[in-house]
Amino acid sequence: MRHHHPVHEDEYGAFHVFRHADVLTVASDPGVYSSQLSRLRPGSQALSEQILSVIDPPMHRTLRRLVSQAFTPRTVADLEPRVTELAGQLLDAVDGDTFDLVADFAYPLPVIVIAELLGVPPADRTLFRSWSDRMLQMQVADPADMQFGDDADEDYQRLVKEPMRAMHAYLHDHVTDRRARPANDLISALVAARVEGERLTDEQIVEFGALLLMAGHVSTSMLLGNTVLCLKDHPRAEAAARADRSLIPALIEEVLRLRPPITVMARVTTKDTVLAGTTIPAGRMVVPSLLSANHDEQVFTDPDHLDLAREGRQIAFGHGIHYCLGAPLARLEGRIALEALFDRFPDFSPTDGAKLRYHRDGLFGVKNLPLT
Ligand code: HEM
Repeated sequence: MRHHHPVHEDEYGAFHVFRHADVLTVASDPGVYSSQLSRLRPGSQALSEQILSVIDPPMHRTLRRLVSQAFTPRTVADLEPRVTELAGQLLDAVDGDTFDLVADFAYPLPVIVIAELLGVPPADRTLFRSWSDRMLQMQVADPADMQFGDDADEDYQRLVKEPMRAMHAYLHDHVTDRRARPANDLISALVAARVEGERLTDEQIVEFGALLLMAGHVSTSMLLGNTVLCLKDHPRAEAAARADRSLIPALIEEVLRLRPPITVMARVTTKDTVLAGTTIPAGRMVVPSLLSANHDEQVFTDPDHLDLAREGRQIAFGHGIHYCLGAPLARLEGRIALEALFDRFPDFSPTDGAKLRYHRDGLFGVKNLPLT
């Protein structure tokens, strides 16, 4: 597709964008390629004017500056000892004979980190996990239970709306509490954030907390699964990173490039435009493929090869104004998780013949990964 149909209109009228350069163009121009997907259904209510990932400038700029003041690279760097401790605890609890990387490690680790970051008490962590499970229609223990049945509307309510409401109500109470009694957590920092006289409303803080869980949980869990699957295919890279731990960050970048957990972004055109010679009318969905861009031979030589010395920008975290705010946290968790696995297990690989269940709908990663 990159050669012959770099911009391809599908049967539903959505335009898929495959080349690295074109994906950057789309992500760099929010004036033409809007993140406000409610524009696809004229007359419908905006999803929310408070959710960072689905708004455009100038609102996006204000909101992003405010949340960035609280969620800083320093906030993330300070998490390192705690993430290391949590990774160790989860692996300590593992039963060596039936170790599932996702259920026992990759799935719980990021949700605990986000819950702690927000200042959610340990007793309420399971609530967070259950909301996240249900909203993503993914239950590691029993996937059959989570499928939509005959009454799709009712199932949608049960699976998505109810936990969303419960989480919002919980976070609202939490924000009220932190306004009254600030603590050393992200919610308190968000309450305190000020940029040019602007401050965040309770609603915005609640939406941001919910977004962190939605954006940061399963994506990071998929990154860890993808890392182990990549190592299976590239044993020399594993040997090199085991021998020299300073290669782990480069390894994680290559895993993100080869198997980006989020394979596509979504935008809607605000006016007629031309991309790579193709006319895209106003009001159409545009779907830039991070997976394809990350394999673009114009940017990456021998793109299917895992190369620890590779230069060139992988774009698994997106690009432009919506560039992933959690990228430093995802990289930190990826590195620490792999260090912990290397420390505990001199050798591990996916169990032969195990049936792997994959996420769908723009996600690239497994829901289970039994290891031997
Ligand atoms: C945005 C990927 C982890 C928080 C994004 C975007 C991508 C992405 C591609 C841009 C979407 C777009 O432009 O439409 C990933 C991947 C992750 C990851 C692959 C893990 C490997 C995290 C984590 C957090 C997080 C751990 C926080 C806890 C966010 C937020 C945004 C975002 C808040 C919206 C930023 C904005 O709209 O300004 N992520 N993400 N992500 N991500 Fe991540």
